[in-house]
Amino acid sequence: RCHIISLADFTPDEYDTVLQTAASFREVLSRRMKKVPTLQGQVVANLFFEPSTRTRSSFELAAKRLSADTLNFAASSSSLTKGETILDTAKTYLAMGTDLMVIRHRDAGVPQAIADEMDRLASNVGVLNAGDGQHEHPSQALLDLFTICSLLDPERPRLELLKGKKIAIVGDILHSRVARSNIWSLTAIAGMELHLASSPTLLPQEFADFGVGRSGQLQLHWQVEPALENADFVMTLRLQKERMSQHLLPSLREYHQRYGITRDRLQACNRGVKVLHPGPANRGVEISSDLMDDPEFSLISQQVTSGVAVRMALLYLMGGGKA
Ligand code: CP
Repeated sequence: RCHIISLADFTPDEYDTVLQTAASFREVLSRRMKKVPTLQGQVVANLFFEPSTRTRSSFELAAKRLSADTLNFAASSSSLTKGETILDTAKTYLAMGTDLMVIRHRDAGVPQAIADEMDRLASNVGVLNAGDGQHEHPSQALLDLFTICSLLDPERPRLELLKGKKIAIVGDILHSRVARSNIWSLTAIAGMELHLASSPTLLPQEFADFGVGRSGQLQLHWQVEPALENADFVMTLRLQKERMSQHLLPSLREYHQRYGITRDRLQACNRGVKVLHPGPANRGVEISSDLMDDPEFSLISQQVTSGVAVRMALLYLMGGGKA
C-alpha cells in the first residue's frame, strides 16, 4: 500500500499482516534494546494540523524505534499562520526528503488530498491518515483491533479471533472518526456481532447502511441496554463537543445517566467483559471515572501501549523496510 487513508477497502489478509507485524514489534519493544535499524535513513514527518497527544507521540516514538528521522510539525507555530496552504506545506516537507507523512486535520479529506498531490508529483511518499474530521482514524481502529485480538491470543493475534464475539460501541458515533474506522475493521469477518448504541441525535439511522455488504453483523440501538447484553467488549466514545452544533449537545448529566458506561451497566455483559476508550475521555460522562482506572475491566492503558507497536507496523509496512 502507498497510503492508508481509510479501512473501507482493507482485506482480512491485510488486517492479519498488520496484527502479526505489530506482534513482532511488541516483542522488540519488550527487549532492553528497543530499537531496530529498519527505517534507518528514512524521514517520517508528523503533520498535525489539529491537536493530539497519543497519536502524535506514538507515531513519533514508533518512527524513532524504527531508526527513522522524524520531523514534527505543529500548525500554530508553522508558516500556515502566514497564509501558506496545506498542500504547499506538504510539498515543502517532500522537498526536504520526507518518505512518510502522517497527517491529522480537522477536515475530512485532507490526508487524501495530500496523498493525491504526492501521487501527482510522482513522489514515492506514503501518506497515513492520523484522523481527518469525522471521516476515519485507521491507526486507532487497528490498535483497538490489536488490543482485543492480543487479549484473546497474545501469541498470534488475528482477525478470526473475533468470531463468536459481541462488541458494543457506545457514545457519540455520529461525530466519531474512530467509530467509522472501527466499523470497517470489526465487520471485516463473518461470525461476530457489532452493536452501536447512542441517542438518536448521535446515531442517525443511516449508520444502518454503513458496513452493508460486509461480513460482520451490525445492529443499531437507541438505548444502551440491548447493546451491552452479553457483550464481550465495550468501546466507549467521547462526546465530541467541538464537532457538535448546540442542538445536538445533550446535558452531560442526562447523557451519563442514559448512556454512560459504569460497573453496574457492565453486569449485563459477558463475564470477563473489557472496556476500551480511544481517549481523550470525559471522565464521568461517557464512562465513569472509577471504571476507567479499574484494571479488571479497562484496556485503556493497553490501547495506548499497543499504539506504538501497531504504528511501528504501519510505518514498517508502508516504508518497505527490511526486517
Ligand atoms: N485517540 C486519539 O486519537 O487521541 P489523540 O487525539 O490524543 O491523538
